[in-house]
Amino acid sequence: MSGFDTTWLDFREPADHAARDPALLEAARQFLRAGGPSPLAVDLGSGTGSTLRAFGPEGPTRWRLVDHDPRLLEAAVSRLGGFAHVERMEADLGHLDPVVVADARLVTASALFDLASQDLVERVADLLTERGIGLYAALNYDGVNRWEPPVDGDDAMLAAFNAHQTTDKGLGPALGPQAAEALRAAFERRGYEVRLAPSPWRLDDGQRALEAALREGFVAAVRETGRVEARRIDAWQAARSAHPAHCHVGHSDVLALPKT
Ligand SMILES: C[S@@+](CC[C@H](N)C(=O)[O-])C[C@H]1O[C@@H](n2cnc3c(N)ncnc32)[C@H](O)[C@@H]1O
Repeated sequence: MSGFDTTWLDFREPADHAARDPALLEAARQFLRAGGPSPLAVDLGSGTGSTLRAFGPEGPTRWRLVDHDPRLLEAAVSRLGGFAHVERMEADLGHLDPVVVADARLVTASALFDLASQDLVERVADLLTERGIGLYAALNYDGVNRWEPPVDGDDAMLAAFNAHQTTDKGLGPALGPQAAEALRAAFERRGYEVRLAPSPWRLDDGQRALEAALREGFVAAVRETGRVEARRIDAWQAARSAHPAHCHVGHSDVLALPKT
């Protein structure tokens, strides 16, 4: 099981919340509210519950958190005291059982579908379409990791990183930067109304710790690919650490709703 630790998820949450497209988030809330007196939202790959905190605790929404990592589910429940009804479900999305989305009005996810395969996207789209469920999938990485100022090796490092993004993370060959477009195509084919909006991170002087953690993960991924020589990676890392850098990481949010 590929693990995400709470430290990394905690680091990224403020940047994620600032990045989410506000119009798509509000449209997702409205769709949920229109789903009866206590609509159910199912958050796939919930981690510690970042999506719930982005929606906020107000309103009668019931939430089901789905993750394969029991430590993260435990951490989530302990951090969601303000939410009236939170149910947890330990499940592997690689074998997505319909019970996961049973009775849902809306399925949500964040930073998940870039880890997913095309097969999983099709499976989710089938399950949701059969039941008339909406999808709000935020923060799908789009292939852009741009540090300013540029240094030697940026292009080779990014190409290797993006290749790593398409390797299997436990859910089949990952879509990586193609995730948002794959969601768009899958749901449009099934007659949904689909909206995409950019939700980039723009990390500056106030986010040194997140930028450093991001860079560390970026370098580790590039090393794993074997596509860039170790000495070139070391040189890139040294050059990057020498500059106080601003960093842009591209993401897209997706909202797919059944046509009324
Ligand atoms: C990048 S984290 C995002 C977590 C959370 N949505 C957030 O935005 O902070 C990806 C999440 O997907 C979960 N995940 C990865 N593979 C999974 C699988 N096969 N089944 C269920 N959950 C999975 C991880 O445990 C992790 O919580």
